[in-house]
Amino acid sequence: MPSREQSWSSESYRRDAGFVSELGAEVLGWLAPRPGERILDLGCGDGALTARLAEAGSEVVGIDMSADFLAAARARGLDARRINGEELEFDAEFDAVFSNAAMHWMLDQDRVIAGVAAALKPGGRFVGEFGGHGNVAAIVTALTSVARRYGLDEHLAHPWVFPTPGEHEARLRAGGFTVRRIALIPRPTPLKTGMRAWLEIFRKPMFEQLPPSKRGALLDEVCDLLRPGLCDDAGNWTADYVRLRFEAVRG
Ligand code: BEZ
Repeated sequence: MPSREQSWSSESYRRDAGFVSELGAEVLGWLAPRPGERILDLGCGDGALTARLAEAGSEVVGIDMSADFLAAARARGLDARRINGEELEFDAEFDAVFSNAAMHWMLDQDRVIAGVAAALKPGGRFVGEFGGHGNVAAIVTALTSVARRYGLDEHLAHPWVFPTPGEHEARLRAGGFTVRRIALIPRPTPLKTGMRAWLEIFRKPMFEQLPPSKRGALLDEVCDLLRPGLCDDAGNWTADYVRLRFEAVRG
């Protein structure tokens, strides 16, 4: 899903973050893919949702920058290519561009939107969902707090873009899109395998700033800070996700 090269294990992602694609069903509904449409899946990950598009009869191209994700997507028989979402070079060949849980990794959103506009045929749809303003706010606060305490790189505590609907709509309009609908959707998300597993998957580079012998204590400290707000008495964790979902059309 990230635009720059990152190392992801599709196996641990499926185990600890499989909910990401499971919860993508609603944004797929906003896309409403039609048989025969040519669709680009921007940040396809392991291809779980890309496969759903193919099953709906679309001709799908998935792009991602993680070698492990691309291998998993190709193992599903998908056309998955190693392309950076900030450097798209398609020319008016898609009926729709779809993206789930990927755009928050793409820091230069204007370039992403310009590349998507160029990739779409006139009238083509751009439908997506990613982290919106306030997403994982408690987690970001805890990570920033420990980054400051231990003199770590604060950018690694919050390397994402989580825009407000107003900010995203303004970018889409500037990029030549008409926005049909856009919504910020708070979605507290149960973490079946806990907060520590989530942190290890999504914020590995933050913890890798420390020698291996010290990482466990740092993870414990972050979990301790988060426990009062995000963990119930039975030990069940919930992440404070907020999604930004949108449907736009290229003019
Ligand atoms: C998200 O899907 O909202 C997300 C993923 C990784 C880190 C933060 C948020």
